[in-house]
Amino acid sequence: MNSYSKVVTIDGPVGSGKGTVGQKLALKLGWGFLDSGALYRACALVATENSLDSSRSSAILKIVGDSDFRSEPRADGEEALVFLKGANVSEQIRTPDIARFASELATNESIRTGLMSIQNSYLRESGLIADGRDMGTVVFPNALLKVYLDANLHARAERKYIQLKNKGICVNFDALYKEIEQRDARDSTRIHAPLTKPEGALVIDTSNLPPDEVVIRILNELDAVCKMEFEIEKYC
Ligand code: DC
Repeated sequence: MNSYSKVVTIDGPVGSGKGTVGQKLALKLGWGFLDSGALYRACALVATENSLDSSRSSAILKIVGDSDFRSEPRADGEEALVFLKGANVSEQIRTPDIARFASELATNESIRTGLMSIQNSYLRESGLIADGRDMGTVVFPNALLKVYLDANLHARAERKYIQLKNKGICVNFDALYKEIEQRDARDSTRIHAPLTKPEGALVIDTSNLPPDEVVIRILNELDAVCKMEFEIEKYC
């Protein structure tokens, strides 16, 4: 398929629906799924457990690198399953404290560079859906299709609030709203690989759109891109 990688990247801010939509797409297409946010959260978890601050990036990367990180899509609309050394850490990495620390660690250039090889190891012949903040801009710049999901802050905060509540984690809505606002600002203004819309991305506002509708829009676009690719190959 020309010089394009069989990858669909889905970038966007907290609560824009990347995870839900990405998992549905991966399962529908039978492609692999990379939840890159979970990788940053895994760094935050091992750093917390080993009392390492952000200045100890090599030590953090060594532990995560030796932990056989795996993310698996789920069919039930919940967030992806995440394993470290075979242990299910999906709940532990999804607390507000770990989310905050992950966003802080993500400003560190050596952490970002160090995680590139794990992210690239997810590339496979069958295809890959990669979700995060810099999937289309930095990690998979040759992706077949780049998607950027967005939604208004209130809708995104509500989604996160319900997700946390369903897990039995009680948070104050206003505090969560502010926390997400701060995380958005940090993720999109940091120096290294900030969250931005990749050039040529399919941009979808998910504020009032159910995930299945978003999936259909992406599949239609993918279909169009694949047909175009085929045409290009035919005339090469
Ligand atoms: O998608 P998430 O909320 O699980 O991500 C947690 C943090 O990780 C997010 O606030 C910023 C960081 N992150 C990143 O910098 N680059 C990515 N590709 C994915 C996540």
